[in-house]
Amino acid sequence: MTNNKPINLFDYEALAPEYLSPMALDYYAGGAWDEVTLRDNRTAFEALKLCPRMLVDVSQRDLSTEILGEPVAMPIMIAPMAFQCLAHPEGEIATAKAASAWGTVMVLSTMSTKSLEEVAQISQETNQWFQLYIHRDRNLTRALVERAEAAGFKALCLTVDAPMLGCRERDRLNQFTLPPNMELANLATMADLEIPKTAGESGLLSYFAQQIDPGVTWWDVEWLHSLTSLPIAIKGILRADDALRAVEYGAKAVIVSNHGGRQLDGAIATIDALPEIVAAVGEQAEVLIDGGIRRGTDVLKALALGAKGVLLGRPVLWGLAVAGEAGVHQVLELLRNELDVAMGLSGCATIQDIDSSLVKRLLT
Ligand code: FNR
Ligand code: LAC
Repeated sequence: MTNNKPINLFDYEALAPEYLSPMALDYYAGGAWDEVTLRDNRTAFEALKLCPRMLVDVSQRDLSTEILGEPVAMPIMIAPMAFQCLAHPEGEIATAKAASAWGTVMVLSTMSTKSLEEVAQISQETNQWFQLYIHRDRNLTRALVERAEAAGFKALCLTVDAPMLGCRERDRLNQFTLPPNMELANLATMADLEIPKTAGESGLLSYFAQQIDPGVTWWDVEWLHSLTSLPIAIKGILRADDALRAVEYGAKAVIVSNHGGRQLDGAIATIDALPEIVAAVGEQAEVLIDGGIRRGTDVLKALALGAKGVLLGRPVLWGLAVAGEAGVHQVLELLRNELDVAMGLSGCATIQDIDSSLVKRLLT
């Protein structure tokens, strides 16, 4: 790093602690229990090797593609992440503006600190998805879905890997809660919901235990279809049989995710889970992936193994913490430029040129 100017996503990660409270930093950075899955998401990417193709004309490169039938300027989206005002006062608004400027999708969390209506107003043409947590209160959940559709969100992203919250010991030690000037912007107005202050425990864990329905099953996917005509993406799938079921229940996209190692520690790294899910789903739905994407080569590897796109998590928060909208913008720019170079160096002029012959897993 020269003159403190970040030149890659790891530089942003290194700078972010200067801009965050210790409680927010632990919440953003941490994973469940021993954080094995959190680390595995990275090591699994590093273990995959590239087999670049030579003497292909890569003088013009095009990173654009389509996700759920909508054009995007690059196959890199922003993952849903709660409580972005902990990073910057503009929170989710800043993130949405940066995503819009780069022509890509931001997925807004149910647990955002700016309301979905405010975020939807960023731009008329913006392609945003709304991430849903099904609350025990089904009227409240239904109202959230209706509000998201009315506000112009293009898809619903149902997160299925959090029937209860994973045990994040950093948050437990910090007794994680939101500062008094921040609220669950989508929920506080509807039902007076807030993250409690819980002695000896993470307030978010208590919130999940009290409010989120651990009894959600595939039938609830049907219920969601009955509430909305929006396409549904199912996020948090790690098995081929679940992916097939998601397709049977009408999902248009399956997001291979272990929640960034924040739920079941020991869960398989996402890039390791991807190939059999892609093989099972085939052309029946789009397969997306998140977890540990930090370099353009990671995006290339994910696409080579059959993902239609990737979602970027924590690095967005690091950018947001360091420089607000401009920071998120630069994080996206850095990753985009790395993908551009990685494509050029592996003989891919377009996203369609990226195929499975580009990656190999060496037996160790
Ligand atoms: C998340 N994630 C998440 N997922 C979700 O469906 N709803 C949510 O509200 C949140 N909130 C959230 C907060 C924070 C601070 C983090 C770091 C993550 C999970 C997220 O969408 C994604 O799956 C992972 O973050 C991807 O992994 P990386 O890129 O962070 O390694
Ligand atoms: C998290 C939840 C809110 O990972 O999804 O913190």
